[in-house]
Amino acid sequence: MLDLTRLRREAVEAPESGIVAVVNHARGKEGIIPMWAGEGDLSTPQFIADAAAESLRAGETFYTWQRGLPELREALANYSSRLYGQNLEPERFFVTGSGMHAIQVALMALAGTGDEVVFIGPVWPNFEAAAGLMGASRREVSLDFADGRWSLDLDKLKGAITDKTRVLFVNTPSNPTGWTASRETLSGILKIAREAGIVIIADEIYARFYYEGQRAPSFHDVMASHDAIIFVNSFSKNWAMTGWRIGWIEASPALGQVIENLIQYSNSGVAAFMQRGAIAALSRGEEFVENQVARAETARDIFCDILTATNKVELSPPDGAFYAFFKIDGVTDTRAAAFRIVDEAKVAIAPGTAFGPQGAPFLRACFHRRLDEVETAAHRLAEWIGFHV
Ligand SMILES: Cc1ncc(COP(=O)(O)O)c(C=O)c1O
Repeated sequence: MLDLTRLRREAVEAPESGIVAVVNHARGKEGIIPMWAGEGDLSTPQFIADAAAESLRAGETFYTWQRGLPELREALANYSSRLYGQNLEPERFFVTGSGMHAIQVALMALAGTGDEVVFIGPVWPNFEAAAGLMGASRREVSLDFADGRWSLDLDKLKGAITDKTRVLFVNTPSNPTGWTASRETLSGILKIAREAGIVIIADEIYARFYYEGQRAPSFHDVMASHDAIIFVNSFSKNWAMTGWRIGWIEASPALGQVIENLIQYSNSGVAAFMQRGAIAALSRGEEFVENQVARAETARDIFCDILTATNKVELSPPDGAFYAFFKIDGVTDTRAAAFRIVDEAKVAIAPGTAFGPQGAPFLRACFHRRLDEVETAAHRLAEWIGFHV
């Protein structure tokens, strides 16, 4: 008989996403403004979709390069070199089947049973779950929250590292908190990782959604070329391609053969037509990215201003990413509150319980939507808060 007892313990124990529960509750209900997911409301720009369609029409339907089409690796190198003001060679770039797949490949390379991974929370839950699937044990270092702002205590981070720690996962700008590490903080983190001899997995997929400059501070700004850092990245957010499933890894070319093998033995490479779309995104998508970020910044201000005016919410506008992560006075069971907010305010947001124990008293709203919808949603929430709190 095939039942759960036949499966790996790690697979059976992998948690259900805490966001999905609200999605399931809201699905099919009329008039709901969806702010639960980590994506905007825009579909992929036509010129990107056209490039993919053209590739399919031209018969690019065969197995392809495990590390990615040379043209795409080159486009990634050009884009990243421009963004970080450095000369990054194409051999550093590896195309993956999403940001999530990039994380999986990095973890496959770094952490198994008996190893420990450290991450900074509250955190998007998939990293921790993926590390659990590898059999690695996980340790969370909590950001501190005061006056609506998040900060990292480097001593606390240092204290969490043991002789079993192999990996430190750093997501900045962060989903869900919006916490964005400064250059000084990144230098401090890097120093700790160097001293402990551990590898950093740097998830900077929200680097462009930064409201204090053209991009968020990056480990690129503070690292030396020999530093042990694997960057994971994605086409999902910058170019509105969440449904495509394509991302990339940037790492030392010395890891090339291993990364190629891990891609071979997981998804065996990303479809060529998707890679053609990705090339179009990198080479012609700059205006789209900039427009999206400008709209998200306005949306952030509209949403945060309306909620803050209730005087019953702890929140300050995040520097990066596109989430408001806030506490409502007196609301302790955020899972129950998220369900009620769907039914009574017709706004769907994610409960903080989905982002680890420290996230539990918070709610997360994705404000990366049309401005009139964001405004309506914020007023509905403010009214709900006024009535219930
Ligand atoms: C912090 C973070 N990293 C990685 C991802 C993965 O993105 P994708 O798998 O869509 O490329 C997400 C998606 O929400 C995210 O929020």
